[in-house]
Amino acid sequence: MFISLIGFMGCGKSCVGKKVSDALGCTLTDLDSYIVEKAGKSIPEIFSSCGEQAFRLLEKESLGEILSKSGSGDTVISAGGGTVMTPACARMLKEDTLCIYLKAGIETLVRNLENDYGSRPMLKTGQGTLKERIEELMRQREAVYESTAAITVNIDGKTFGEVADLVMDAVREKSLR
Ligand code: S3P
Repeated sequence: MFISLIGFMGCGKSCVGKKVSDALGCTLTDLDSYIVEKAGKSIPEIFSSCGEQAFRLLEKESLGEILSKSGSGDTVISAGGGTVMTPACARMLKEDTLCIYLKAGIETLVRNLENDYGSRPMLKTGQGTLKERIEELMRQREAVYESTAAITVNIDGKTFGEVADLVMDAVREKSLR
């Protein structure tokens, strides 16, 4: 089974993904890392040399490749924050994985991102404060996160360890059905 984690930048997808894959003793595939390896360029380099559209195309191809390699055990996929905005990606995540949305409020995201957004091109474009940019992107994305995921886990006020435990509970419950 593929388990995917979606949600806004800074919600802890990679960190929670690592904890969940360790607990399940299964593979973790980080979509951003997969893209960087495939392209031989960092994410900021891909955005600056080829643009967002080219990045989204690479992201879609990469997700398709990851999902076509169905091994014997489970695989946890930590998606990128904008992956769901490509309809084909949202469809793959919804239909081919147990998709879990790590839902964070704006304050949590600002706190998690304020010292860590230098390598995130989507937060550097445009005018205004970091908070305004997060709000703007969240307005475009929130409904898509909600409609793509089978399960939503609220992360506000929780440690990544606590979030990973909630994700594990959800995975166990789904696998028992
Ligand atoms: C993006 C999120 C990033 C990365 C790229 C675009 C986005 O992933 O895929 O910078 O559009 O939200 P993280 O959510 O892991 O930071």
